[in-house]
Amino acid sequence: MQSYILITGATSGIGYEMAQNLAEKKFNLILVSRNVDKMIIMKKQLQSSYGIIVDYFEKDLSLPNEAKELLDDILLKEYRVSHLINNAGFGEYGHFLNTSLEVELKMINLNIIGLVILTKLFAKDMAARGGGKILNVASLLSFIPFPYYSVYSATKSFVLAFSETIAAEVEEFGVVLTTLCPGPVETPFQTDEMRHTNAMKVNKPMSAKLVAAKGIDLLLYGKGKKIVGLNNWFISNLPRITPDYLMMKIKKYLASKSN
Ligand SMILES: NC(=O)c1ccc[n+]([C@@H]2O[C@H](COP(=O)([O-])OP(=O)(O)OC[C@H]3O[C@@H](n4cnc5c(N)ncnc54)[C@H](OP(=O)(O)O)[C@@H]3O)[C@@H](O)[C@H]2O)c1
Repeated sequence: MQSYILITGATSGIGYEMAQNLAEKKFNLILVSRNVDKMIIMKKQLQSSYGIIVDYFEKDLSLPNEAKELLDDILLKEYRVSHLINNAGFGEYGHFLNTSLEVELKMINLNIIGLVILTKLFAKDMAARGGGKILNVASLLSFIPFPYYSVYSATKSFVLAFSETIAAEVEEFGVVLTTLCPGPVETPFQTDEMRHTNAMKVNKPMSAKLVAAKGIDLLLYGKGKKIVGLNNWFISNLPRITPDYLMMKIKKYLASKSN
């Protein structure tokens, strides 16, 4: 049985760069996203550049049935997933009174429900086989929920809390679960509105390539969680040392438009 690293949300941003990074290291890959055309192009490029095996599965992971099908589809092909990267996710920036409830429910379905389904199914499979590794992608906003990113911040707080507890539970079965917490990253995730906030002025987005490399190090060799960048580490600790009324002011300043 061939071993693979599975990356959800592999067609863009951090997931795309993780795929490139792992291919350079000669790991076989399984790509998952909704966009078959992009995955076909990536499969050709990665196989011809690095001589690895790449397969892909078209799944909308915000639909619980599609997330649940993924492991069965993989086992049917007799692939063994040694490492899982739960990276697929999206956010919506905007005033909660104006944002779309439908979009927010889809976000909860992808960022939380899809991630829980994959973590459970793959962790059980890994534990039964004697071990494996899982990387869940959370965010700096897991520590510092941000106005106009209300539902998104809450999904990422969930991801961190969930991942830290499951990590403690699965360790004895040889499964290592780690959590990547990036600050702003230059990917299509960033909207123009977000780019023009004070937050982006004081905390410039990092390159997806750098963040992906930190994530891969954590997946392959690390334990626990990683906040990428000293600046972000400092920001993540602000709520612990700052009174609530002041934190509210700071958040409102960061979320408002820069001149
Ligand atoms: N960029 C940032 O500033 C930042 C900061 C902290 C954390 N993060 C987190 O990092 C992760 C990756 O974000 P990114 O910035 O790389 O975003 P991105 O460039 O927009 O990429 C998102 C990926 O997720 C996939 N995806 C979206 N909806 C999906 C669905 N319903 N089912 C399956 N796949 C889906 C997309 O593929 P298709 O559209 O082809 O399906 C794409 O490959 C996310 O979890 C995000 O929350 C990002």
